[in-house]
Amino acid sequence: MTLTTKHFGVDIPVIGFGTWKLKDDTAHECVSKAIEAGYRMIDTAQAYENEKAVGRGIKDAQLPREDLWVTTKVWMSEFKDGDLQESVEKSVDRLGTDYADLILLHWPNKDVPLEETIGALNDVRKKGLTKHIGVSNFTVDLLGQAVKLSEAPILTNQIEYHPFIDQTAVLEAAHGIGTSVTAFSPLAQGKVFESDVLKEIGEAHGKSAAQVAIRWFAQQPGIITIPRSSSPEHLRQNNDVHDFELSPQEMGRITALKANHERLINPSWAPDWDAAA
Ligand SMILES: NC(=O)c1ccc[n+]([C@@H]2O[C@H](COP(=O)([O-])OP(=O)(O)OC[C@H]3O[C@@H](n4cnc5c(N)ncnc54)[C@H](OP(=O)(O)O)[C@@H]3O)[C@@H](O)[C@H]2O)c1
Repeated sequence: MTLTTKHFGVDIPVIGFGTWKLKDDTAHECVSKAIEAGYRMIDTAQAYENEKAVGRGIKDAQLPREDLWVTTKVWMSEFKDGDLQESVEKSVDRLGTDYADLILLHWPNKDVPLEETIGALNDVRKKGLTKHIGVSNFTVDLLGQAVKLSEAPILTNQIEYHPFIDQTAVLEAAHGIGTSVTAFSPLAQGKVFESDVLKEIGEAHGKSAAQVAIRWFAQQPGIITIPRSSSPEHLRQNNDVHDFELSPQEMGRITALKANHERLINPSWAPDWDAAA
């Protein structure tokens, strides 16, 4: 079953497979297993240095191209007009998928005018290298600027989002303009397994803390989530969330965990993040 969320007339699968840190044969095998397990979206990036291996996994699956959603991200060193287009051509070539479904700017880069980068991003879409465009790690202000500068819709803002971080500001801003939010590090890189609340709710449904977290995302409108795993058993489990439902009370208990406001991904080049609500 592929649950989707509709933005600007486009149906986007709500559960995708994340591939950060998966390299070479592991990336190849895990992507192949993920598609076998029913994932219909794969998330990679130039910076993950695995686009070729991810592409091999996609090829193995032998799905009609239009049945799979492939997202990749342009690294910040490639944000100048010309460089961006060239880097996306190389990405699509490495993936071997003819086109990407979604190309994201991986992080904002204040050293290159956003207008230039967004112009180049629209250009790759016009050239047919990607169906859609979006951003990642953009704050409310930067997202607003990107939307104003872009001819094509900004389909998603991919941000760190799990039960322990308060992303209310970005969620409200994105949804207010029709943009989806893609939750990266949705399992808080394994920290969901330390949460008594998630474990307790999981026990009530016969599910793991990871499955509860993924279900929590799937029940929120306008959210896409991309858990990563190097284990065929884990990745299968993470997509096995369609046979139970969290009650409004359970949803609320999980949402309340955002009071921790714990950010896991905060490199030196990160923008000035929006404050917790
Ligand atoms: N745009 C950005 O800047 C950005 C930044 C970070 C991440 N991302 C994207 O988001 C994806 C996901 O985030 P993430 O990779 O940081 O971490 P994550 O998905 O939150 O967590 C991955 C960790 O959880 C473990 N895990 C997964 N399922 C499990 C299960 N069912 N049982 C037990 N352990 C489980 C994995 O271990 P095993 O391998 O042992 O299962 C791995 O250590 C990335 O792969 C990437 O595609 C994007």
